Parts: sequence; structure tokens; C-alpha cells
Amino acid sequence: MFPSHRPRRLRTTPAMRRLVSETSVRPRQLVLPMFVREGATGPIPIASMPGVVQHSRDSLRKAAVEAVQAGVGGLMLFGVPEQRDAVGSGATDPDGILNVALRDLRAELGDSTVLMADCCLDEFTDHGHCGVLAADGTVDNDATLEVYAEMAVAQVEAGAHVVGPSGMMDGQIGVIRHALDDAGHTDASVLAYSVKYASAFYGPFREAVDSQLTGDRKAYQQDPANARESLRELALDLAEGADLVMVKPALAYLDVLRSVAEVSDVPVAAYQVSGEYAMAEAAFANGWLDRQRTVLEMLTSIHRAGADIVLTYWAVEASRWLATT
Ligand code: PBG
Repeated sequence: MFPSHRPRRLRTTPAMRRLVSETSVRPRQLVLPMFVREGATGPIPIASMPGVVQHSRDSLRKAAVEAVQAGVGGLMLFGVPEQRDAVGSGATDPDGILNVALRDLRAELGDSTVLMADCCLDEFTDHGHCGVLAADGTVDNDATLEVYAEMAVAQVEAGAHVVGPSGMMDGQIGVIRHALDDAGHTDASVLAYSVKYASAFYGPFREAVDSQLTGDRKAYQQDPANARESLRELALDLAEGADLVMVKPALAYLDVLRSVAEVSDVPVAAYQVSGEYAMAEAAFANGWLDRQRTVLEMLTSIHRAGADIVLTYWAVEASRWLATT
């Protein structure tokens, strides 16, 4: 009798498949990225991200409450300011849009969710880079660190439980940790974007935050061809005191995610970025892929590859689907 080994036995019935299923992503592990735009009077659609909007302060508050009610584990907030300048002043200003919105959400939600803030200058600078520029036009790593430190403290004082430095400056985790501790915020956490590639998949995000960038971020974000330096970035961030680490983007970097998850001694997040969302939504709109199955398959795969936490623009919908499984 051949075959003598039949893996298909464990796939015969829904009950059997459910019994042997190894991985299930839960709503509490999903984090919803949200955009808030200064001066907006209502939600403004983002064309390349159907279903995602730039919120007004009011619509943000309502959408955040709905997301928490749907069971998501946290919210990651990005600000879109009205005015930008060379040093990104709006980022450190307590009355800057991101800090104001954090205050709104903390007042509304208290500790019922985990409030995270993007700690990076690109939304606030008129040149669109993630840091301040040196005289020669390159991003000045060490000058940027000082601004990040001030920005992180402002975000925590506005209500963030977690700051997420995403600018890929060397030393950013250590500098932010020290600044938070010096200001007495020893309980505020740092989610390090430890592994962040210079990716084409961030395309729609540029529209989401009205980015002013011309050129690219290849002098500070990682080369997609490289895996080894991800482990170096991870080790540095862990040594500098990261409480959580992130790999970004997700789907095209599952190998990197897996290798990070194997050695990290803190929880690992992965960011399913704007381009991953846009490309799937385009296929859904054409009827080429089944929305629910495709989204849940991607999220399950990111989780299976080693992510404890997934940042996804589908967090609310996915949480609702998962609530019934
Ligand atoms: C930088 C930042 C970016 C994203 C998150 N934080 C843009 C970039 O690095 O160019 C991209 C997220 C996405 O594409 O969904 N503040």
C-alpha cells in the first residue's frame, strides 16, 4: 500500500483542521495606525488607501473609540500639520497636532488601550526628511537625536503610553530612553522601529501625511538586499533599552521577521505598511481577491513568521472578523 504516510488525514474535516491549527492571530495583537490632520473639519479620504482617512480631531476620537470597542490592542498615531518648517517645530510643540490629538485620545480612552505615537520628523519638516538637515543637505544624525528626545517627552506628556521612533537615526533608542527617564517617565515604553527598509511600499503613506519629500531615504533606511544588518540594528536597539521592536514592511520581509523573532528577548511587532494595504485593496476592488480571506491569511502569515503584534490598516475589520472565529 502506497502512500503509507497521509498528511491529508489531518485536513479531512473542519473540526479536525480546527483541532490541529497552530496559529491564530487575535484582535488584541493588532494595532491600528491612524492619521490626524490639523485644521480638518471632518475625515478626508486618502485616495491610494481606500477606506483610510486623515481624521479631524473629532472624527479621530470617534474612530478610536470604535477601534477599541472592536477589540484592537492599540493605536499608532501620526500627525499631519498645517505648517511645516526645516526643523519640524510642530513635533515638539505641546500644541502641535499630534500632541493635541494624543491628549484628546488619552482623555477619551484613559488606559483602556495602548496609545502609541510616531516619533519621527518627516511629517513635520518642510523637506520631508525624517531628521534635521546639515549644511550639505544630508540628514544630521546627532542633531536629529536631540529633537527626537524632546519630541518623545512631549508625546508622553501629552498621553502616549508608547513612543515609536521610526526615523532610523543611530542611537535614537538610547537618547529617547534617557530623555524619558530624566523627565521622570520611567514607565513610558519605547517601540523601536529596529528594522526598517527603504521600501517602495511606503508610497501611499506619503499621500496619507502629505509628505513633502523629494528624493529618498536610502542614506538612513536599510537596503532591501540586506538581511544581516537587521540583526545588528536589533542588537543595538535592545542594548539601548527598546521595550518592543519592529520589522517593517511585513509581507516582503518575513524572512527577516523570522530571524529577528528567533533572537529577540522583547515582543516583536511587524508593520503591514500602506503599500501592502493599497495593493491588496486594488485587487479587492477589481474582484480579483477575496477580501476577508486574503487579509486574514496575510495577518496569520505575519504572525506565524514571528510577529507578536501587527500594525495594520485593517485592524478594525480584522478584529470584527476574528471575533466570530
Ligand atoms: C516615518 C514613517 C513612515 C511610515 C511609518 N513611519 C514613512 C517612511 O519611512 O517613509 C510608513 C508607514 C506606511 O507606509 O504605512 N515617520
